[in-house]
Formats: sequence, C-alpha cells, structure tokens
Amino acid sequence: MNLLDYLPGVPDFPKPGILFRDISPLLANPNAFKEATLQLEALAQQFDYSHILGIESRGFIFGTALAYQAHKGLALARKPNKLPLASHRESYGLEYGLDSLEIAQSTLPAGARILIVDDVLATGGTIIAASKLLKKAGFDVAGALTLLEIDGLNGSKILSQTGIANKTVLV
Ligand code: PRP
Ligand code: MG
Repeated sequence: MNLLDYLPGVPDFPKPGILFRDISPLLANPNAFKEATLQLEALAQQFDYSHILGIESRGFIFGTALAYQAHKGLALARKPNKLPLASHRESYGLEYGLDSLEIAQSTLPAGARILIVDDVLATGGTIIAASKLLKKAGFDVAGALTLLEIDGLNGSKILSQTGIANKTVLV
C-alpha cells in the first residue's frame, strides 16, 4: 500500500502557490489509517519519550492514534483561547498566516519527555512553536514525528538545525 495515494495534493489552497495535502481519503480508509498509525509507531520507537503532544487540529488525529497504539499519554497543544486554565502561549508564522498554540499549565507530569506529533511538516514553524511551548512549560522535547513532509521546504533540515530530532513517514 502506498500511503501517498491516500493523501492527494490540492494545488493553490488555501492560497496560490501552496500545495495542500488532504488527509481525508486516508482517514476514510481503515486500512490506510491503520497502516499510517503502525508506521508512525514504528518510527516513534526510535525516540525516548514518555508522552505525546498532538497539535490542533490535524495533529490531534494522528497523535491520538499513536498514543493509543503505543500506549502513551497524550497532551494537546491548542489553538488560542480554548483553554480555561492558566496556560503557556507561543505565536508562530505559517506558510499562510500567523497563529498561536497554547498548552495547559498542569497537563503533564514533571519530568515528562514529549514527542511532538503532527500530520504534516511544511516550514517547521508549527513544530518549532510547539517545542518552544513545551520548553517554556518546563518539559523535555524528545523530538517530532509527522506523517508527511512537504518536499522542497526544508522543514526537516530546519527542525534539525533548531535542535529538534525529527522523523517523518512519507516525503
Ligand atoms: C497545517 C498542518 C501542520 C502545519 C504544517 O496545520 O496540519 O500543523 O500546517 O505547517 P508548518 O510546518 O509550515 O508549520 P494548520 O495550521 O493549517 O491547521 P490545522 O491542523 O488546524 O488544519
Ligand atoms: Mg496543523
């Protein structure tokens, strides 16, 4: 099974020049979704981690699937103004705009080593923000894991240069 067949590219969305990757066909096919989860779990084994951080929105899906498969605890990096309790916030630039992530102060136990999980790695801005957020909150970052890296944006290289170990299932 070639998982890329289930991740069609949609050119010029949401802005001209951006190739949007649609994860819906993969999620709609139980064999493809299972295979994606198993491949994420195989790569996750190369990290020394205690918990997973899923990034809202699409990172929640794969973060949750991986947490279940790997039997690890899951924390959520939320988009702004969703969390009722004291939280840390980190702003970042995307290929198509500005956004922020927040994490609740008390989500994770002290000493947790976190594996950041997202669907797609493009510029790396989202994962770098998630990493800064975790460090601000006092946690160790084990690394970052994505299902797909968008070719040509050097996301993996940028993460590595930032000191974030990273792996992706597909390029
Ligand atoms: C997309 C994607 C990654 C991020 C990758 O999320 O799901 O999280 O962009 O881009 P980067 O590497 O350049 O930061 P988006 O913020 O569009 O929102 P969504 O997950 O809520 O759909
Ligand atoms: Mg996202």
